[in-house]
Amino acid sequence: MKPIQVGLLGIGTVGSGTFNVLQRNQEEIKRRAGRGIEITMVADLDTARARAAVGEAVQVVGDARAVIANPDIDIVIELIGGYGIARQLVLEAIAAGKHVVTANKALLAVHGTEIFAAAEQQGVMVAFEAAVAGGIPIIKALREGLTANSIQWIAGIINGTTNFILSEMRDKGSDFATVLKEAQRLGYAEADPTFDIEGVDAAHKVTLMSAIAFGIPVQFDKAHVEGITKLAAQDIKYAEQLGYRIKLLGITRRAAAGIELRVHPALVPSKRLLANVEGAMNAVVVHGDAVGTTLYYGKGAGSEPTASAVIADLVDITRLHTANAAQRVPYLAFHPNAMSDHLD
Ligand code: HSE
Repeated sequence: MKPIQVGLLGIGTVGSGTFNVLQRNQEEIKRRAGRGIEITMVADLDTARARAAVGEAVQVVGDARAVIANPDIDIVIELIGGYGIARQLVLEAIAAGKHVVTANKALLAVHGTEIFAAAEQQGVMVAFEAAVAGGIPIIKALREGLTANSIQWIAGIINGTTNFILSEMRDKGSDFATVLKEAQRLGYAEADPTFDIEGVDAAHKVTLMSAIAFGIPVQFDKAHVEGITKLAAQDIKYAEQLGYRIKLLGITRRAAAGIELRVHPALVPSKRLLANVEGAMNAVVVHGDAVGTTLYYGKGAGSEPTASAVIADLVDITRLHTANAAQRVPYLAFHPNAMSDHLD
């Protein structure tokens, strides 16, 4: 079967990571997806940067709409970011019958209801594993691994930039502004780092997890959002003396009055696993009624960790897309028809 063709919008840090990992692990990915996956077209305003990232074999264009208009492209990866043009292009890709993979938590947390409704109407998928906690497969854990559970609560360190800042301030006594600059240099921070330090990025992510865990609409506007800008080095020191570490947590939980959704600095007892998540690492704790408490830990940002999540979505969509088209791929071994054939 010919490879599924993918168009990539925006080839910065995550886009080039996605291209490289797909190339490097193409045989294994093909085996797992049941079909090859190839990025055949890339759109970026900086075509020279795109050409340098993907070489000569891939078509490079300056206009994202040329990718959407290409009938051979089945999946569009949106890595532009932000709410503006990204929203428009995602809606246009959906309207053109393309599946969409995105790492854009801001877009989905604010416009998710509109985007998911459009996708459902068109019969296409919008997948966003990379939007929450980078390389940690937390969306999959919530949707699949924990699907038997009534989720009670989720609490997580889901912004690497702020966790890095808090860790460095505590360990090295560095000042806030210097560490933020370092986080930007290392590529953790958002284009607008206010989103990181004011808790907005974490609120986008916890909004998405909450929607999946509790089956509620995405409603970022309902979240309580407080960042780390009001914290002083002394707060961190006093907390330490009292046996706590300050962490910026995203929390969502079932409460008597409804679902809570909040981001704020919290005192975490130093012996807790969450308290010991250092630097730009992320960790999410999920409590389900059947499974109890589970913990997911890993890199929440960066080129290849985020690419790992983008490609997981590409593989999922490739399986489902191919199944719909041909009614048989390996992972559908337990398709009801296949089962009854077997039992007969
Ligand atoms: N700015 C984000 C962070 C990047 O620091 O976690 C990954 O979403």
